[in-house]
Amino acid sequence: MLMVRVLFVCLGNICRSPIAQGVFEQLLEERGLSDQVSADSAGTAAYHIGELPDERTRANARSHGIELTHRARQVSAADLQAFDYVITMDKSNYDNVLKLYQTAGGKAKALLQMMRSFDVSPDDVDVPDPYYGGAEGFEHVYQIVRRSAERLIDYLVERHHLNPKQV
Ligand code: 4NP
Repeated sequence: MLMVRVLFVCLGNICRSPIAQGVFEQLLEERGLSDQVSADSAGTAAYHIGELPDERTRANARSHGIELTHRARQVSAADLQAFDYVITMDKSNYDNVLKLYQTAGGKAKALLQMMRSFDVSPDDVDVPDPYYGGAEGFEHVYQIVRRSAERLIDYLVERHHLNPKQV
């Protein structure tokens, strides 16, 4: 069975990329695609390795029926060989992952994309970092990653000829 592997990347791996992963997995489940697509997330920074997502991220996720249990980890050059897609939350994450492609040399497999390149109504190229703001920033992030994840899944279904299972 073909498994398409997607890695979501932000800075700390405690706010944006864990909720992107959680929303994406929830949609895969709803659309009967969980046996064909898998997801993970990571951060470009090492500050929060081993931690659960930020409490505000978990509270927001819970309000949308998603329980986040991911533990933060740092993205590595090996991820570029293991995953089919690396989807970054902002341009700064994108530039940092690009540097990893240089260390991975010709062995990298993953296609690199920005999350909001899949947003049907983008008002910015970045998923804004909610870390230093209030609760409304976390809901804003949720709305953006939800819209983007829907379209990303449409794209994967078409590109990889996936067959949704009846759920
Ligand atoms: P994230 O948010 O990149 O969406 O996980 C942040 C989390 C932590 C920090 C910055 C952004 N920090 O500076 O610790």
